[in-house]
Amino acid sequence: MQLTGKVAVVTGGGSGFGAALCRGLAAEGAHVVAVDLHGDRAREVAAEVGGLAVEADVSVEEEVQRAVDEAGRWRGPVEVMISNAGVVGPSDVFTGDDCWDREWRVHVMSNLYAARAVLPSMLERGCGWLVSTASAVGLTNQPGTAAYVVTKHAQVALAEHLALTYADRGIQVSCICPLGMRTGMTASAAAGADPADRFGATTLIDADEAAARALAQLHEGRFLVLTHPEVATYAARRGADHDRWLAGLRRMYTRLRVGEPTAG
Ligand SMILES: NC(=O)c1ccc[n+]([C@@H]2O[C@H](COP(=O)([O-])OP(=O)(O)OC[C@H]3O[C@@H](n4cnc5c(N)ncnc54)[C@H](O)[C@@H]3O)[C@@H](O)[C@H]2O)c1
Repeated sequence: MQLTGKVAVVTGGGSGFGAALCRGLAAEGAHVVAVDLHGDRAREVAAEVGGLAVEADVSVEEEVQRAVDEAGRWRGPVEVMISNAGVVGPSDVFTGDDCWDREWRVHVMSNLYAARAVLPSMLERGCGWLVSTASAVGLTNQPGTAAYVVTKHAQVALAEHLALTYADRGIQVSCICPLGMRTGMTASAAAGADPADRFGATTLIDADEAAARALAQLHEGRFLVLTHPEVATYAARRGADHDRWLAGLRRMYTRLRVGEPTAG
């Protein structure tokens, strides 16, 4: 899709990868709407790209709908919707439900709300991009962030469902599965008790470079969009022999001493 003059909404657009996507989309001529829980960050990015800032919590359906409505009033219907907001923290099976619930809502329900908010109008026009930023861990696994890994898997599954259901009706559904990017998320993980390797720190790339790679693959019409090509190999290894893949991961993380259980 030619992006000039199109309205593109990016959630979590106030920092990191989302902000880089905003810059990349704006460079292609899109009218960019940066949506973020932190309004000040969204306003900063919007000012940089000549876009619109919307302060909203995407884990709440009415707020996602409001963001889409504000975008529509500003420059017309949303043609590109990128659900990119994300949160991460240490978690395992003993971590409280509030953490599990928060990650479920931010990574999965927000994507469902986005689809509900933009699909009717996209289907009417017979076109649009519906995009999720999931994670490489939505295709593989890592210890120590159970709620993140589980909800990122669910985010991939929801995107697959949307692609299965709507791709024949003119909607391009894509799922970006980044590995390590230098953002606030990886900076805070690296500052924590566990090695930053949990987030692929050895393969960290700049968010702007990751966004450029992602946008190029979105233009190719790909469902699975990878910022790091090696993730396809990890996913293929899992598909080829699940038990062997899991044993290999276990050995690797034992070596790195990541993800010691916190209780039980
Ligand atoms: N950084 C990485 O290495 C990496 C790797 C794989 C996947 N990802 C994914 O990429 C996406 C972007 O992450 P990032 O690395 O840029 O992190 P980041 O922390 O820099 O940006 C995330 C943004 O989401 C916003 N946000 C969080 N909860 C929100 C909510 N409820 N409503 C609205 N906005 C909310 C935050 O305010 C923040 O601006 C996330 O979905 C993350 O899971 C990141």
